[in-house]
Amino acid sequence: MARLDRLLANLGYGSRREVTDLVARRQVTLDGAMVKDAGARIAVSADLPERMTVSGQPLDPPAPLTILMHKPLDVVCSHREPGRSVYEILPRRWQGRMPALSTVGRLDKDTSGLLLITDDGPFLHRVISPKAHVAKRYVATLDRPLRGDEAEVFAAGTLMLEGESDALAPAVLEVLGPKEARLTITEGRYHQVRRMFAAMGNHVTTLHRDRIGALALPEDMAPGAWRVLTPAEQASLFA
Ligand code: URA
Repeated sequence: MARLDRLLANLGYGSRREVTDLVARRQVTLDGAMVKDAGARIAVSADLPERMTVSGQPLDPPAPLTILMHKPLDVVCSHREPGRSVYEILPRRWQGRMPALSTVGRLDKDTSGLLLITDDGPFLHRVISPKAHVAKRYVATLDRPLRGDEAEVFAAGTLMLEGESDALAPAVLEVLGPKEARLTITEGRYHQVRRMFAAMGNHVTTLHRDRIGALALPEDMAPGAWRVLTPAEQASLFA
C-alpha cells in the first residue's frame, strides 16, 4: 500500500504539495470514481494504469519499470555527459521518478541498438554482472579487412586491453563480411568492443547492439522508438 500523494510524487507528477493540489482539483480517478483524499492508501499493482487516471490520462506505470529502446546515434546514456540523453526521449515526467530510471550498462554516443532502461536494481545488476554471463551481441563494421585470427584471439580469454590488468573473458566473433563482424561479449568494460578491435590493429566505424541475452531488438523498431518491457520478456532475457 502507498499513500496516493507519495505514489504520484514518486512517479514524477510533482511535489507532494502539487499532487495534493491535483487531487483537490479532482484530476485523479480510481476505478471510475474521483479520489478526494490525497492521503488515501492505494494498493500498488501493475494494473493500476488501467484503473487510475491523472488529468484524464492513464497513470504512468509504477515501479518496477523496464523500457526497451532502440537507442539512436548521437544521444548519450548518462545525465552527466554533454548532449541529449536517452532519458530525454522518454516522457519528461519520468525524469522525476523515484526510484530513478537508469540505463542497464551504457552504449557510446556513436553506438546504436538495444538499450534497456530500468528502475529495477536487482534486474540491472543481474544483466551487467560479468558473473551472470549475460551475452551482449554487437554488429561492428570496420575500417580495415579482418586479419583472420580475431575469432581465435577473442575466444582464448587471454586478450588484455590497454591499461587493464585482467584479461577479457572469452568472446565469440562471427565474420559477416571482409569488414563486418558480429561479436558476443559477456562483460561490459569501457568501450570494450571498440578497444577489442583496436587491440587487433583495426578501427570500428559503426557499432550496433542487436541482442542482450535471449532478447533481440525488434526488427520493426525504429531508432529512437521505445516501449515498456513486459515482465515475461524481462524474464525471457535470462532464458
Ligand atoms: N563496446 C563499445 O565499444 N561501445 C559500446 O557502446 C558498447 C560496447
